[in-house]
Amino acid sequence: MYAEQMTMLLLRRAAHLRTNLRRSFSVSRTHLNERKGLVLGVFEKDGEGGSLHLTEAAAGFDQSLSGKLSELLEISGPTLKKGKSRVFYGIHKDFPCVAVVGLGKNNAGVCGAENWDTSKENIRHAVSAGCRVLQDLEVNHVEVDACGDAQSAAEGAALGLFQYDQLKSKKTTKVTTQLHGSADSASWGKGVIYAEGQNLARLLMEAPANHITPTAFANIIEEKLAPHAERVTINKRSQSWIQEQQMGAFLSVSKGSVEPPVFLELHYNGSPDSKQAPLLLVGKGITFDSGGISLKPSASMDAMRADMGGAATVCASIVTAAALKLPVNIIGLAPLCENMPSGNATKPGDVIIAKNGKTIQVDNTDAEGRLVLADALCYGHTFNPRAIVNVATLTGAMDVALGSAATGVFTNSDWLWEKLQKASVVTGDRVWRMPLFQHYTRQVTDCQLADLNNVGKYSRSGGACTAAAFLREFVTAPHWAHLDIAGVMSNQDEVPYLRKGMSGRPTRTLVEFSSGLAHSG
Ligand code: BES
Ligand code: ZN
Ligand code: ZN
Repeated sequence: MYAEQMTMLLLRRAAHLRTNLRRSFSVSRTHLNERKGLVLGVFEKDGEGGSLHLTEAAAGFDQSLSGKLSELLEISGPTLKKGKSRVFYGIHKDFPCVAVVGLGKNNAGVCGAENWDTSKENIRHAVSAGCRVLQDLEVNHVEVDACGDAQSAAEGAALGLFQYDQLKSKKTTKVTTQLHGSADSASWGKGVIYAEGQNLARLLMEAPANHITPTAFANIIEEKLAPHAERVTINKRSQSWIQEQQMGAFLSVSKGSVEPPVFLELHYNGSPDSKQAPLLLVGKGITFDSGGISLKPSASMDAMRADMGGAATVCASIVTAAALKLPVNIIGLAPLCENMPSGNATKPGDVIIAKNGKTIQVDNTDAEGRLVLADALCYGHTFNPRAIVNVATLTGAMDVALGSAATGVFTNSDWLWEKLQKASVVTGDRVWRMPLFQHYTRQVTDCQLADLNNVGKYSRSGGACTAAAFLREFVTAPHWAHLDIAGVMSNQDEVPYLRKGMSGRPTRTLVEFSSGLAHSG
């Protein structure tokens, strides 16, 4: 009896499908160049045997097909686990391919233990999986279910679809996206802008170092800011300006390379009060870190093309702040150069003089990030910023400590810490507080020849903390944070909505943080 019923049901469905297939094929013939797809969400069932829990948009779509989607979902396999997708073909005349994606539990919300908003992360994960499966099918326009949070859905779509393939002859299918079945286009638009910001940082980090030289980096940022010229000024400072500024620490790094250094200075004036003290963002911009005379081992040295990740995320977040027209003033500084070995390069044991007059014994030329940042931080203080945030792929030790789970934050300000942490819960691109003890300061100030040594006395132990302690010697401002992003620089498969490659993290957190400052006055 049961088997008979099932057979009838399946036959009826097959007949239905044939009708719809015919319909959709005739439609797709009129749009030969465009293949359309749809991504819809489904939550995990509440308890065993609970009924299917579709999102609002998915339920609407299901209704328009007289319940066909839910029927197909029931018969095609077990409930979709979060981040998993299933594609149905030919069920709707406008959408030849429909990807249904698993969103996990409904109303998961903020998780204290994980330090992020699980609902938002689940949406990013699911939507990116759905968009990618359709991209693999060469669908070139995808409509996306807001899944209850259009911003997160847009982020999942735009982050998930990004791939750096500019230098390959065979490209991945270009996919355009659009919100489906929701009126919240403002949130969708915001999500696209946030994700495009991170994608800009990913592009700059992933691209090879012979393409992204200091000069090329500065030109790309200038181009990206051109549409916002009304509120933005850019200075691409040359070597002679850097010399006039007596940035001896920065120059000690750049002098081993034939590529000229650039000190990039961006001013975004978004606040209605032009006199409002700016937020200062400073990014390490080593476009290639060979280690210099303290040469790195050759295995994985190619990853050091992303050693400008601090500059990339800082500049990309300023481009994003400008696109969002955030009502806040931001100054961005990026000391850009290569760290190379040569007859002109700094040698271990050399002593140099930073902009603030402090002398530094350079015992390891591979600890170059703190040197370029030292001078940039000194210069940055001249703008009387309300807060200083520097971002750098500073130490391998940071990767050892936290891996890719979170950016390490060293800060002298509880106020700044709270703002950064709050922003990161929203974005899912997390931060974790690290110590700034005098214990570490002693290890860089105890130096044979100079005021400071560029490496800690006990070399590898607490390497991320001694690097932070070194930077602190160049800070007098009460609200300063150093973000060590070495651990989050690249992605294998840890962040499910980013493909393998340089991550562009934590651009969205910097944008969300800036937005928080803008709206708290
Ligand atoms: N750019 C590196 C740090 C890094 C390592 C970033 C791996 C991303 C992934 C930095 O300039 C460096 O080489 N730091 C040294 C410091 C040491 C010599 C005190 C390090 O971490 O080994
Ligand atoms: Zn280095
Ligand atoms: Zn470096």
